[in-house]
Amino acid sequence: MRTQVAIIGAGPAGLLLSHLLARAGIDSVVLERSSRDHVERRIRAGVLEHGTVALLRRLGLADRLDQEGMPHHGVELLFDGQGHRLDLTALAGRQITIYGQHELVKDLIRARFDTGAPLLFEAPVQQVVDPTGDQPVVHFQHEGRTHELRADVVAGCDGFHGVSRATIPSSILSVHRHDYPYAWLGVLAQAPPSAEELIYAYHQRGFALHSMRNPELTRLYLQVPPGTESADWPAERVWAELSTRLARDDPGWSLTRGPIVEQSVVDLRSVVAEPMRYGRLFLAGDAAHIVPATGAKGLNLAVADVLNLAAGLTRWYADGSETLLDAYSATCLERVWRVQHFSWWMTSMLHREPDQDPFTTGLQLSQLRYLTRSTAAATSFAENYAGLPLTSGG
Ligand code: FAD
Ligand code: DHB
Repeated sequence: MRTQVAIIGAGPAGLLLSHLLARAGIDSVVLERSSRDHVERRIRAGVLEHGTVALLRRLGLADRLDQEGMPHHGVELLFDGQGHRLDLTALAGRQITIYGQHELVKDLIRARFDTGAPLLFEAPVQQVVDPTGDQPVVHFQHEGRTHELRADVVAGCDGFHGVSRATIPSSILSVHRHDYPYAWLGVLAQAPPSAEELIYAYHQRGFALHSMRNPELTRLYLQVPPGTESADWPAERVWAELSTRLARDDPGWSLTRGPIVEQSVVDLRSVVAEPMRYGRLFLAGDAAHIVPATGAKGLNLAVADVLNLAAGLTRWYADGSETLLDAYSATCLERVWRVQHFSWWMTSMLHREPDQDPFTTGLQLSQLRYLTRSTAAATSFAENYAGLPLTSGG
């Protein structure tokens, strides 16, 4: 089997890359380890930046997103019992859209199948052979047999636990990592959202987040200790803790409850692997970097990477110039570090450390108050949160 670009992983990064390349007339094969059903049901991100939505529209991939996505013009910070709205549109001229990652993945898979281009599920890649040669070969399993896919280029879009990053020798790859002394318990509840916008709550018992998927489904998160077992959090405990942490002085407000239909624990970590290129192997998305979920940036960062990779490959196939491909890693990493800083900063401001000292609490509250009182501080938050401009090559 042969193609121009072998794409490992059918998450947002791999699928979107396949569409960007197809639009430039470049063939690709997408290989995904899991089943289509599994990939389409995996509940993860929910916030799309302004630039991500605009790109999907340009590619003609936003029909359902435009019908069902929920544009939000602001978010709320809740602390000391008071909510403070930050108006993203007024501050930064940009909004966010709430649309489940698995819904986006469904749209991208359907559009890929509509074109008839290859996308194989239950096709785990075992190794990438000769990534520094002219014809790297991807070995994968499918329907009980081992196959070889020869390509000009391999795009490693296989997430944090994939094989691509591990292909790069440790003498070449630097991995920078920061762990946090807390994790998130996420629940999806069959209940109408209790507010029109997202609520990021700072509370002495820990962080809480109120989000949503649609007018009938609320998405909620609680800061929990790392290593927490989801089974230790029966529904009654989840709702009691959420009600406490999201409580406000306004007596008219209450949290709407409903059956919990999904529940899981997510670790928070920051990871950057560099460089994001090794010969003809290019890493994109979670394969190269992880941000703590607080800033809602992981999916959007994956989109920024593949936009750059597609621009580089398009140029290379058009006129043989490697200029953009040579700049790929450095260009992506500039945005990656900006987003890492923002995500780390937002995470540190909103979470409670175990045995937190009063000095740290004082700093957190000072930062939160400053954000709600200073237009300059709020504008900086808004432009990062709603997303810095997305450009190929920047
Ligand atoms: P993935 O989505 O991880 O896709 C990688 C794919 O590769 C997977 O389908 C995997 O099965 C496949 N794969 C792995 N190994 C192999 C192999 N050997 N062979 C073939 N296929 C393989 N981000 C946001 O932007 N906004 C948010 O609001 C947000 N909230 C989040 C909330 C939670 C609870 C979590 C967990 C994450 C959140 N994120 C958010 C992060 C976001 O989900 C990820 O950053 C995003 O999924 C990255 O996309 P990706 O395509 O790079 O990787
Ligand atoms: C969601 C996840 C986030 O990490 C975040 O910051 C906001 C919303 C969500 O899943 O809806």
